[in-house]
Amino acid sequence: MTDQPDNLREHVRAHYAAAARTVTQGGTACCGSESESESESDSESGSGSGSGVGVGSGCGSGAVATGPEFGAGLYAAGDRDTLPAEAVAASLGCGNPIAVAELGEGERVLDLGSGGGIDVLLSARRVGPTGRAYGLDMTDEMLALARANAAAAGVANVEFLRGAIESVPLPSQSLDVVISNCVINLSTDKPAVFAEAFRVLKPGGRVGVTDVVADDELTAEQRAERGDHVGCVAGALSFAEYRAGLAAAGFTGIEITATHAVADGMHSAIVRATRPR
Ligand SMILES: C[S@@+](CC[C@H](N)C(=O)[O-])C[C@H]1O[C@@H](n2cnc3c(N)ncnc32)[C@H](O)[C@@H]1O
Repeated sequence: MTDQPDNLREHVRAHYAAAARTVTQGGTACCGSESESESESDSESGSGSGSGVGVGSGCGSGAVATGPEFGAGLYAAGDRDTLPAEAVAASLGCGNPIAVAELGEGERVLDLGSGGGIDVLLSARRVGPTGRAYGLDMTDEMLALARANAAAAGVANVEFLRGAIESVPLPSQSLDVVISNCVINLSTDKPAVFAEAFRVLKPGGRVGVTDVVADDELTAEQRAERGDHVGCVAGALSFAEYRAGLAAAGFTGIEITATHAVADGMHSAIVRATRPR
């Protein structure tokens, strides 16, 4: 049943709500397949074989307890050390979009699927008091965690919005940059995500995303064999599909560069694109 879009989205929401609760209770949202307890309590859980983002008590109690392919270990210690421990503990990305997006003073940036807020908080520092960083997430527990992290960090130029990345609650042509970290693969309507990113960007605005991407020859079934959907693997686009999706939305200057393997034939990748002037 989880392959129905609404069921799949609800499964993703429940999974990341559990991740946020884990961090709020002093644990670490970490990487691996779904925990047994989560799978047992959710009769609609997807199947998978061990890669991707999971939630479980076996993740360790330290602030950074993720595998090398995912999470806070992908950030420079100098950045991590400026953030509340809970923002670091909630890091579930597969890259570092801040390093990709090259944010400047005064820019307005949106993070699609902002989770515990790590990339929004780092963006807010980069764009400074004249800029603004928005986080968008559909999971209430993640939004509460992100807002608490922003308050703990004393960062004022941030706003966390509730909503879906397929229907962004911001005006057209209002942003300089759209970032995202390991979220677009989770969407059940990726053309809508690309169209919304294009709509909210000003002409000349840019996308700087990290995401899981599959080798072009991997079928959907082969992707699903390598990891589950909520674990950021089964829903990944191939390189060609990603490029075609961005181009169909109107983006140009599309670059997709693999950075590290997350499963056999599947990679974390940096994705850059521009809305033409
Ligand atoms: C893998 S976590 C990544 C969180 C964050 N970007 C990071 O690097 O830690 C995925 C996040 O995206 C959110 N999410 C997934 N699908 C979404 C959708 N369709 N619309 C809005 N948020 C979504 C989840 O609630 C979760 O917080």
